[in-house]
Amino acid sequence: MGPPEVYPDHESLSRAAAGAIVEEGGRAMGGSGADRRFTMALAGGSTPRRAYELLAVTPLAEALDWRRVHVFWSDERCVDPADARSNERMVREALLDRVAIPAEQVHAVRCAAQDGLQGKDCAERAAVAYEATLRRFFPLDLVVLGLGDDGHTASLFPSSAALAEESRWVAAVPPAAAGTGPHGTANRDLWRVTLTAPFINTAACVLFVVSGAAKAAVVRDVLEGPADTRRLPAQLIRLRGGRLRWLLDKDAAALLAARPEGGRTRETAAL
Ligand code: 6PG
Repeated sequence: MGPPEVYPDHESLSRAAAGAIVEEGGRAMGGSGADRRFTMALAGGSTPRRAYELLAVTPLAEALDWRRVHVFWSDERCVDPADARSNERMVREALLDRVAIPAEQVHAVRCAAQDGLQGKDCAERAAVAYEATLRRFFPLDLVVLGLGDDGHTASLFPSSAALAEESRWVAAVPPAAAGTGPHGTANRDLWRVTLTAPFINTAACVLFVVSGAAKAAVVRDVLEGPADTRRLPAQLIRLRGGRLRWLLDKDAAALLAARPEGGRTRETAAL
């Protein structure tokens, strides 16, 4: 893992994240083999939305051959895709509805109540189905992740059973039991489906995109604190041979002791 890459603000962080996605797409689709494709799982939440929006407009939109891109999700809340809490809806609005990606190359997690199933049965069925889909594209070229202020990433929450998953690639995550203490993330009252750490760790590249002062303490704990993966599940993300990149804005990096001097990026170097 290289040193964290620090940007002045959310907008420049988003530009860098969008550029990193294009860079990974170029690695995946470059080289020989006209049939090379680019497979990426995208994070939900709010932080990456602006990066996705930038991917949908000139100049970056033309930088990827969307006919060869396959999009997945790092996790999903088990709600209807039209629901404002849906990660699928956020990515479609910010990006997919605005680029020429073939519909069959958008691989959404469908775990909302349907066919008379709901809750656990729906989430479990969706996890099995999604894993079967992923097996057709393994390993992914890129996984984009966010970080919750409680140390979770994707829907891998502190002390959850999914953290112990060593074989499955996708897991169903139950709603947080009422009164189980403060949750850094809204929408803990929903069933969720998440990629598991063992699967994420097989990706060619994992990109954490983290913004804001509210994340500064957890960024410090995850990157510089003692290993404690039950309390800080983001620490489970350790790639074997791939590239693990942390893209932060200045506020999210504010408590890092080993402050990267001016960041490791063209953009901050030019400041
Ligand atoms: C989700 C996300 C989640 C998110 C973090 C950070 O479904 O909730 O996938 O893992 O990345 O909670 O969320 P923000 O970017 O909104 O701070």
